[in-house]
Amino acid sequence: MEKLKSFKPLNLFEYEQLATECLSQMALDYYASGAWDEITLRDNRAAFERLKFRPRVLVDVSDRNLATKILDQPLQIPLLIAPMAFQCLANPQGEVATAKAAADAGVGMLLSTLSTKSIEEVAAVCPDTNLHAPQWFQLYIHKDRGLTRALVERAYAAGYKALCITVDAPILGRRERDKRNEFALPPGLQLANLTNLSGLNIPHEEGESGLFTYVAGQLDPAVTWDDLEWFQSLCPLPLVLKGILRGDDAARAVECGVKAIVVSNHGGRQLDGAIASLDALAEVVDAVGDRAEVLLDGGIRRGTDILKALALGAKAVLVGRPVLWGLAVAGEAGVAHVIEILRDELDVAMALSGCASLEKIDSSLLFCEKHHFA
Ligand code: FNR
Ligand code: LAC
Repeated sequence: MEKLKSFKPLNLFEYEQLATECLSQMALDYYASGAWDEITLRDNRAAFERLKFRPRVLVDVSDRNLATKILDQPLQIPLLIAPMAFQCLANPQGEVATAKAAADAGVGMLLSTLSTKSIEEVAAVCPDTNLHAPQWFQLYIHKDRGLTRALVERAYAAGYKALCITVDAPILGRRERDKRNEFALPPGLQLANLTNLSGLNIPHEEGESGLFTYVAGQLDPAVTWDDLEWFQSLCPLPLVLKGILRGDDAARAVECGVKAIVVSNHGGRQLDGAIASLDALAEVVDAVGDRAEVLLDGGIRRGTDILKALALGAKAVLVGRPVLWGLAVAGEAGVAHVIEILRDELDVAMALSGCASLEKIDSSLLFCEKHHFA
C-alpha cells in the first residue's frame, strides 16, 4: 500500500517494475519465469505487437458497453483472472485478495488447484456468483483419482461455476530459475486444498525445483481424451479445457462436450518454442465455430491486446502475471487497480476504433496484407 502512495503506476508494465521491489527473489523468479530460453514467453508479447488495427471513424461511440456473458455467466468486462498457483507469495491474503478485487469489478476468477487459500475460503468472498462474475475451479489431475474427485466435489459444493482442466502440463516445463533457486514454499505457506486432505506439499529438494518434483510425482501424465467422460460424470459443471493451441485438438474437445476452450501456452512456462497463443487463436476459432466459447491468455498487458484477441474471435481473455504484480504492490487494491487500468484502456481502444459494444468488434478491425493491397 505504501508503495502505491509514493508512486502510482500508470500501466501494467509499471506494476511489473514496482513489483520487483516487493517480492523475494524466489517468488519473483517463479512468477516471471518462462521455460528454457523463454522464446514463447517473449513471443506472446511480440505477437500482439505485430498485429495492427484498421480503426473505423465517424461512429457514435458516446455510449459504450463492455459487458458480456461467458457460459451464460455475467462479466462486466471480457476479462477473467488466470489460475495462478501460490498467490500468498505476493501478499498474505493471496487468492482471497484477488477474488475480492475480481468480484468487485465484475471480472471472473479461476482458482488454481495449487492455491495457498482454500477452495472454500475463496468461494466465501463471493457468496452469490449468480449475481457477481463467476469463479471457476482449475483442476490439476492427480494420479490419486480419489483426491482428484474430492477436489471437484468441493469446488462444486462451494459454488464454482465451471471446471477448467489444464491440459498442457502432463509434467512441468523446465523453468531454470526455479531449479537454480531450489523453489519451495516458505515456512507457513502450504497447498491449502491438499495439505490437510492428503499431507501433500511442495518439497524442498537440493538442485531441483520442488514444484517440478511435486508435479512429476503427483500429477498424472497419462491422461487422454478418453478420461474426459469421467470428469464430466463427477459434477454437472461445464467443462473448460485450458492449454489448447491447435484446431484439431479444439474440435476434438468440442466433440467430447467441452463448453469452452482457453487458447494458451501457459504463459510460455511449458513447451518453449510453442507458438504465441495469439497466433493460435484464429485456427481454434475456425475449428470450433459456434459450438463452444473460445478464450485466450498469454501476454495480455494492454486494453488494445484485449481488443485484438476479441477481433480474432475470442469471447474474453484471461490475464495472468500482472495480477500478481498488483497483488505484490498493494494487495487487493493493487489487483483492483490493475483491472481498472485494463478496463479503461479497453474502453478507450474501443472508442478509438469505432466500437461502442463488444458485438461490433470483428476481424475487419485488423490489418492484413489483403486489405493493404485491396
Ligand atoms: C500460472 N499458470 C497456471 N495455469 C494453470 O492452469 N494452473 C496454475 O496453477 C498456474 N499457475 C501459474 C503460476 C504463475 C506464477 C503463472 C505466471 C502462471 C498459467 C496461467 O494460468 C496463464 O496461462 C498465464 O499466466 C497467462 O499468461 P500471462 O498473462 O501471465 O502472460
Ligand atoms: C505453473 C504451474 C503451477 O505454471 O501451473 O507454475
